[in-house]
Amino acid sequence: MAILMRTALFVPGNRPDRIEKALNTKADMVIIDLEDAVPLSEKAIARLNVREKVSQFADRAIMVRINPLRSSYIQSDLEEAVVKGVKGIMLPKVEQAEDIREINRLLLEIEKRDSLPEGFFLVLPLIESGSAVQRIYEIVSTETKPQRVYTVAFGAADFTLDMGIEMTLEGSELLYARSRISIACRAAGLAPPIDTPFMLDLSDIDALVSDAKRAKRLGFQGKLVIHPRQIDPCNEVFSPSLEEIEKAEKIVRAFEQAEASGTAAIQLEGKFIDYPVVERSRDLLALANEINRKRG
Ligand code: GLV
Ligand code: MG
Repeated sequence: MAILMRTALFVPGNRPDRIEKALNTKADMVIIDLEDAVPLSEKAIARLNVREKVSQFADRAIMVRINPLRSSYIQSDLEEAVVKGVKGIMLPKVEQAEDIREINRLLLEIEKRDSLPEGFFLVLPLIESGSAVQRIYEIVSTETKPQRVYTVAFGAADFTLDMGIEMTLEGSELLYARSRISIACRAAGLAPPIDTPFMLDLSDIDALVSDAKRAKRLGFQGKLVIHPRQIDPCNEVFSPSLEEIEKAEKIVRAFEQAEASGTAAIQLEGKFIDYPVVERSRDLLALANEINRKRG
């Protein structure tokens, strides 16, 4: 279940005009929000908007961020806004393995109601507290039938609130949490995680790019974005560049030739190349292909 998610754009569910705009952007995924971007008085209308827009944009990759399991909105969110056409749900404020089992039970009921196959709706848990980071491996390795968790996303606004710390431009305060999340996803065999939105300055694209690169270096596959202007720069950060593609092709070619003549370690332009380096190049080319397929 490879899903391209270099960018996942949040849009408030109570703003139909903005939902429509969001669905027309180049974000790989659009996440219609029913949680923190929606005033309490507008939760009901937001659910209606989800149903309407999802049926209008049937071939778009759409997720819905529902309210947390322990909120009073969860049942109505599931009943009214989790419908065919929604690829999955983002579950905020996940704290423990039991939350994954609980959302699985609830989604099974919805799938039964709508005669959809079990596992139709994916789950993208949002990790956004100290206790969630502490229990991250337990969360991402929770077994359910069917298996629904594709990967997780990191939410630094609530995380820094919970921790009582400041978000900074250089981002060192997030290093440990990001690393834990990324390693846990890998260890549990999930896809690489999705990074927090960058919200310190929506007009500062250089700072956004630095932040995205920091997350990429730690193993994140993409970023949540909160404004359309953040999409192109993040899509670019999380796509292999032309230069990287050419270099990877060169490495694979040179290595395959060497291997055919009985050598498994070569030098190419001063760089040492062995099996792991070649594998890494092949992974990069596979990602480039997937992105191309989507464009095509
Ligand atoms: C997202 O929900 C966050 O808290 O950063
Ligand atoms: Mg949050």
